[in-house]
Amino acid sequence: MSAVRNRIEVMHGVNLDQLGRRDAEQYGTLTLEELEVHINTAADELGLDTRFFQTNHEGEFVERLHRLEGLADGLILNPGAWTHYSYAIRDALDLLAVPLVEVHLSNVEEREEWRRHSVLADLASRRVIGKGPDGYREALEFVVEQRSE
Ligand code: DQA
Repeated sequence: MSAVRNRIEVMHGVNLDQLGRRDAEQYGTLTLEELEVHINTAADELGLDTRFFQTNHEGEFVERLHRLEGLADGLILNPGAWTHYSYAIRDALDLLAVPLVEVHLSNVEEREEWRRHSVLADLASRRVIGKGPDGYREALEFVVEQRSE
């Protein structure tokens, strides 16, 4: 009998706790709490269990990643600005064997030059960018697809 692998960790990085007061043109108007409700609705429909984590402290983010092995079957990550320069988070991700999806609410490819580079992109099985809250649904669907492969 194969074990059901439906535990999805959704991690939000620096400044994502400020959604709702950040630039609505880039990030929309949902607060983080509302975004998490949106993600949970999609997860329920797909039969997935989500766990959420947000911090503004890079070390805490890294420590959460260290503890994830064996506790999550998939990881959906929006590290905020850390995406563009945190080799510490990259190294922690390198230790994880679970499928990783990198999500950005805004279209980082069409914003400032410094946002176009992600130091984690090559570790991600999929990147979903510029699709707002629905990007998380796409990320969850991808995890489901991967699971059935
Ligand atoms: C972001 C894009 C990053 O460049 C930015 O620093 C964020 C949010 C996004 O979801 O679009 O904080 O990751």
